[in-house]
Amino acid sequence: MRGFHVAILANLKKNAPQIPGLPADYWADLDSEHTVQAIADALQAGGHRTTFLEGDVTLYDRLREVRPDICFNICEGHFGDSREAQVPAILEMLRIPYTGSKVLTLALTLDKPMTKRVLAFSGLPTPPFQVFERADEPLSAELEYPLFVKPSRQGTGMGISPSSIVLHEDQLRQQLREVLKRYREPALVERYVPGREVTVGIVGNLCRGRGEATTPGGWPGLRLLQPLEIELGVYAQAEAGLYTHRAKVDLADKLTYLCPAPLSADVADELSRLAVEAFRVTGCLDMARVDFRLDSTNDWRPTILEINPLPGLSPGISDLVIEAEAAGIGHTELVNLILDTALRRYGMV
Ligand SMILES: Nc1ncnc2c1ncn2[C@@H]1O[C@H](COP(=O)(O)OP(=O)(O)OP(=O)(O)O)[C@@H](O)[C@H]1O
Ligand SMILES: [Mg+2]
Repeated sequence: MRGFHVAILANLKKNAPQIPGLPADYWADLDSEHTVQAIADALQAGGHRTTFLEGDVTLYDRLREVRPDICFNICEGHFGDSREAQVPAILEMLRIPYTGSKVLTLALTLDKPMTKRVLAFSGLPTPPFQVFERADEPLSAELEYPLFVKPSRQGTGMGISPSSIVLHEDQLRQQLREVLKRYREPALVERYVPGREVTVGIVGNLCRGRGEATTPGGWPGLRLLQPLEIELGVYAQAEAGLYTHRAKVDLADKLTYLCPAPLSADVADELSRLAVEAFRVTGCLDMARVDFRLDSTNDWRPTILEINPLPGLSPGISDLVIEAEAAGIGHTELVNLILDTALRRYGMV
């Protein structure tokens, strides 16, 4: 395969806008120079030439100067309800190919309630929920405590802590006030799902017309990675067994990652089926990671928390990278697999 000129598009933490009054974790989603360098090293090892471009307001002009063959997009975006979808929109305007999902999928999946509506419509399990724009809205009679309160459009465990679990009305109202004030976006209230934390990575694309997920392993074009369990029991006290921002960032090297997760064949098959279906109904391309809880009150049945079409790619740290490693796919190979998947999708190879 010939080498391509690949522009790596990312929002670096160090370039994040400095705005007084934002929560301390506000830019936690953005990438480190280390991650971007690792992606550049991987692509160069794959025989490609790379240029890094910051995914900010300068991007449109820079792309017209640089004219890459394809972009490796990991931009989370800075501002706006659909911030992850902004860079793909620019790329489509300029007709430049890029890795990963497109505008609609990135806008949809950043919005957890909207994603849950699509999942529920498609008959996929996701905890019952209600969206609050104000802290004093009445709670639906269908929701019972304990409940879980989180921001609608954040990632990396932002706004998630043991106090996200609310046991009664006072706690609910307090947590709603907190989330609405900090993140200035609607709060999502879900049934609290006690149990185990599992995530499933996917690389590849569903073949058109053959997307019906029927038999496990029967999805040509998709590479399903083995489920990864994040063992949060050690932080049962401090983090309430949740995959919080603190667990993801400060305690990451102390967590136990089990891949493949020790699961019965039935649960593992069901996770595969649900991950593929979630990938399909939200229109993911090239890669995604689907986050689940296994419900201890319902025979450990999987329920879908969210879909991440731009999963983290930090070497040795990100869940997708850990899952790939367990399958014998190193970071360099994973990054090139994602690029090759996109190149094939565009008919460039
Ligand atoms: N309804 C729920 N019941 C129990 N725990 C939950 C619930 N929703 C979220 N959590 C906990 O909070 C964590 C983060 O939730 P979620 O995956 O929705 O947010 P995120 O910040 O977008 O995550 P990511 O880092 O994957 O982008 C989950 O991994 C889980 O530990
Ligand atoms: Mg998650």
